[in-house]
Amino acid sequence: MQLKFDFNNMMDAYIGEQGIAEAEIAAVSELSKDAYSYFEKNRGTGWMGWSELPYCQAEEVADIICTAADIRAHYKNFVVLGIGGSALGPMAVYNALCHLRNNELDEDKRSVKFYVEDNVDPERMQSLLDVIDVKETMFNVITKSGATSETMSQYLIITDILKKKCGKDWAKHIIATTSESKGNLIKLAKSEGFKTYFIPDGVGGRFSELCPVGLLPAAVLGIDIVGMLRGAANMDKACNSSDPFKNPALMAATLSYIAMEQKGKNISVMMPYADSLKLMADWYCQLWGESLGKATDFDGKLVHKGQTPVKALGVTDQHSQVQLYTEGPFDKVITIIGVEHFRKDVEIAKGAEEFADVNFLCGHTMGELINTERRATEYALTRSKHMNRTILLDAVNAESIGELMMFFQLETAYCGKMLNIDAFNQPGVEEGKNATYAMFDRHGYEAKKAELEAAPKKNDRYIIG
Ligand code: PA5
Repeated sequence: MQLKFDFNNMMDAYIGEQGIAEAEIAAVSELSKDAYSYFEKNRGTGWMGWSELPYCQAEEVADIICTAADIRAHYKNFVVLGIGGSALGPMAVYNALCHLRNNELDEDKRSVKFYVEDNVDPERMQSLLDVIDVKETMFNVITKSGATSETMSQYLIITDILKKKCGKDWAKHIIATTSESKGNLIKLAKSEGFKTYFIPDGVGGRFSELCPVGLLPAAVLGIDIVGMLRGAANMDKACNSSDPFKNPALMAATLSYIAMEQKGKNISVMMPYADSLKLMADWYCQLWGESLGKATDFDGKLVHKGQTPVKALGVTDQHSQVQLYTEGPFDKVITIIGVEHFRKDVEIAKGAEEFADVNFLCGHTMGELINTERRATEYALTRSKHMNRTILLDAVNAESIGELMMFFQLETAYCGKMLNIDAFNQPGVEEGKNATYAMFDRHGYEAKKAELEAAPKKNDRYIIG
């Protein structure tokens, strides 16, 4: 395994009464064992289909690799149209495993230019259309439900343009990734003849990076998707124990559970010390927030569980948020993600020998500096008794990214069970989707529209300006 989970600074031995005692881990051992058994018993079934993705996609992977080569040979741009779980994984993996300025590289130094359109901001859509030629572009429309307003509106805009600019060949510019059994995108795909990949039934949006949702964009970008899946499998196998001390994701979940439920840590800060992992924090925020933020538990009791995820970037946020994290309230767990070996390093050149306060940097590398600052922040947080943990990757590569994503998915699934909530639904997200449909007078949403119209009207007294 390339990933190490270091939870020293969550323990009372290091941060005193803000920390967790081994006895407290032992006290919830039945709950963590139960979470592990529940996961093992249900793996591959219901909404846990994602757990088998590293093992069951040989045919899809072969097809995806072939299609990706064809796309690279014929298109200059690859654009993902999708939102939430249908966008955050592809973005995070692109950011992690491609050149950080991929789209600015000369054509012979990259596979394709890559864009993920996950918003319906009209200015953003127009700006995309200003920089791409749709005739040279493959669009990957990704929506599990096949009904999400944002994605379907983008689909409509793009297909209209494709029809006008590409004539009878327009449908060759679209690949649909969607559910085989429900939604409108699959119907459109069949009637228009789009190449289609399926999102398996038991794989929810935020757990879908390792199915065609994430694998196709990654393969088009030349990323080793077999390596990603191998990394995920390695992590899955490393988590094959009901003893948290032998299962890193179960230990992470157990500590998160205690932090949330017994230590008042309501906030989870995800702080990678690598620009390549910056968007991994966005992906994590959706996974953790949407999975664990739930009003009711499995017994239907109102519980309002969850821990607010916050993204940060080291070292950048040392000069903003870290002041709060080292001296503010004891309501957070800070997760630092470190990278031991950067793929490229840059030496800090000599040039100010007469200035000792600058010269001390010379002869070191930026890689040394970022990792030293990471360890310094870890020290400062620990010294001020603020709970923190470090996930250390040996290097950022396809395999370690697969390990990292599987680690967080497992932690989320175990923690959901320990909290006795359904980590795989999203009624709060659905509520917003349904209200949008009602406001746009979508057929079937008349009752929701009436409910919205009956809601209290805003008071002008409370609006100034
Ligand atoms: O995790 C989830 O299920 C959601 O965030 C979805 O990914 C998001 O709402 C987009 O849904 P869909 O893929 O159906 O368009």
